[in-house]
Amino acid sequence: MDRDKEQVTAEGENSSNKTVVITGAFSYTGKYATRILLDRGYRIRTLTYHPERENPFGDKVQVFPYNFDNLERLTETLRGASVLINTYWVRFPRGRATFEVAVQNTRTLLSAAKSAGVRRIVHVSIANPSLESNLGYYRGKAQLEKEVFESGLSYSILRPTVIFGLEDILINNIAWFVRHFPAFAIPGDGRYRVRPIYVEDMARLITNAVEQRENAVLNAVGPEMYTFEKLVNLIAEQLRRRVRLVHVPMPLAYLATRVAGWLVGDVVLTWEEYKGLMDDLLARAGPSTGETRLSEWLAANREQVGRRYASEVARHYARTTSASERETRGYASAAVDR
Ligand SMILES: NC(=O)c1ccc[n+]([C@@H]2O[C@H](COP(=O)([O-])OP(=O)(O)OC[C@H]3O[C@@H](n4cnc5c(N)ncnc54)[C@H](OP(=O)(O)O)[C@@H]3O)[C@@H](O)[C@H]2O)c1
Repeated sequence: MDRDKEQVTAEGENSSNKTVVITGAFSYTGKYATRILLDRGYRIRTLTYHPERENPFGDKVQVFPYNFDNLERLTETLRGASVLINTYWVRFPRGRATFEVAVQNTRTLLSAAKSAGVRRIVHVSIANPSLESNLGYYRGKAQLEKEVFESGLSYSILRPTVIFGLEDILINNIAWFVRHFPAFAIPGDGRYRVRPIYVEDMARLITNAVEQRENAVLNAVGPEMYTFEKLVNLIAEQLRRRVRLVHVPMPLAYLATRVAGWLVGDVVLTWEEYKGLMDDLLARAGPSTGETRLSEWLAANREQVGRRYASEVARHYARTTSASERETRGYASAAVDR
């Protein structure tokens, strides 16, 4: 038996194995979850497309690139870990990063986790996933849930609606538009709903799921639910801005966001995202699993929210270091610290 296999067997039998691999530890939700896990004494490795990104954890987190095209290497970066936390997904298709590719990459990740001896996966999905959905995001997420169910790994699946926090995109960018424009376009009647969860509450659900053993599927929803129109009103009120809400047909609102996207160099909201929002998919009934109220959080953070436009394209598509440079800098081949 080689050293890696011995290691996995030994750690697999030892319930105190505290090595967790989390995707996107320097990105949004993953950063909050990583902070909690480090505080709880876990050893953390992360998989990311941005290994060169400045990170708040320094050398407390071991960094590896995703390596979806190299199953062996990907497996090595997972070996010796007891739990995989998967946040990886793409918000909308762009270039080669399509929903289909994200599904395939996640399948590869699951397969690597199994080969590496990982025993549990905490998988971040979405509220209201459906295999029958004509929206690629919701269909892809449902396909992955099925893969997780059938993986043979112990699992916890979390289904968030919208995750709000200082780095979030939807709520922050509504606030940014409210700060900068005298009017706000509400697509349709504005009565479709949003039930957001706070990012720290979400991170707590993720990290608690690491410590549980049973299989579970949990909606990640906060205590407050708003119609979209009320949500925009609430944000304007908390920011102390007067803004006129103008109801417009969805295609017109979409066109307006295309123009705004061109101005800010981002994809503000896709056609599919409009459909998901207006089909009530960002809401979910049932008991709340998050505690933080959006209204109170906005009141406490009114000075910061919406000060800067949060760009998905800048966050995920601006390349600061080429793959070969990263390879040269040793990320891809860095040894796994066990
Ligand atoms: N944010 C929300 O409001 C929300 C709502 C419902 C569900 N979710 C789900 O929650 C999970 C975490 O969301 P998040 O907003 O916190 O994500 P995130 O941190 O921005 O990204 C999570 C991971 O996916 C990778 N990633 C994101 N976009 C990518 C792209 N276009 N191409 C390649 N890799 C990409 C990131 O890579 P890097 O490490 O290189 O950054 C990171 O490792 C996701 O599965 C998402 O579907 C989020």
